[in-house]
Amino acid sequence: MTAQATAIGIDIGGTGIKGAVIDLATGDLLSERVKLATPAGGKPEDIVETTKEILETLAASDSTLPVGVCFPAIVRNGMTMSAANVSKKWIGLHAEELFEKTLGRDIHFVNDADAAGYAESRFGAAKDTPGLVVMTTLGTGIGTALIYNGVLIPNAELGHLEIDGVDYETKASYAAKERDDLSWERWARRLQKYYSRLEALLSPDLFIVGGGVSKSYEEYLPLLKLGTPILPATHRNNAGILGAAALAVGTDR
Ligand code: BGC
Repeated sequence: MTAQATAIGIDIGGTGIKGAVIDLATGDLLSERVKLATPAGGKPEDIVETTKEILETLAASDSTLPVGVCFPAIVRNGMTMSAANVSKKWIGLHAEELFEKTLGRDIHFVNDADAAGYAESRFGAAKDTPGLVVMTTLGTGIGTALIYNGVLIPNAELGHLEIDGVDYETKASYAAKERDDLSWERWARRLQKYYSRLEALLSPDLFIVGGGVSKSYEEYLPLLKLGTPILPATHRNNAGILGAAALAVGTDR
């Protein structure tokens, strides 16, 4: 049997839902990236309908492709277990089952940061990096993923580390930078605290920084003093799609 070479990845975010057909050997997009706005309120039944539209566009020519979906919550056995920045209706939801029923095909449901981290380890900035890679995505919240020798350890929720008595994603996420109107320097001080803590707890071999703001990495990564190398993500906007697709057929599922 030849290995599955192609899969569809879908990335559900707070503002947009995007998807593409992925070449799993290279991580290249084999289709256009289809993007629709996330329905207001972010309720499961609305999101699954938007996902259906995207899938119908993408799978027009092949309805047998495996489908991976990533979402900003803890996902255990296809069930979404948290809702830090999304509708509370996702807590305790059999999301994979709901999507499979509505979309009429097998779906593999994973956490968004796990998908992004896995994509970077397989196709991006952490490709072939041995040891422990810690992926962090700086967006509305902070997503994290742990990848050890290429194997994903799912559902690390280290964005919620408590530092100075608060859930630190509320201080160091990109949304916090915007909310508090922080300069790069002031934001970097918060990032310094955050990454120093991760470093002390995990002794990683490499940090990867993803999320939209990783394209401006030159503004803040050089300000950080860490013993661990820290690199911007290679795939940024597409990392979730790539990782969701790869995990849908990967050996780590
Ligand atoms: C959630 C994580 C998610 C991250 C990035 C956090 O608030 O708890 O599950 O990966 O945001 O979206």
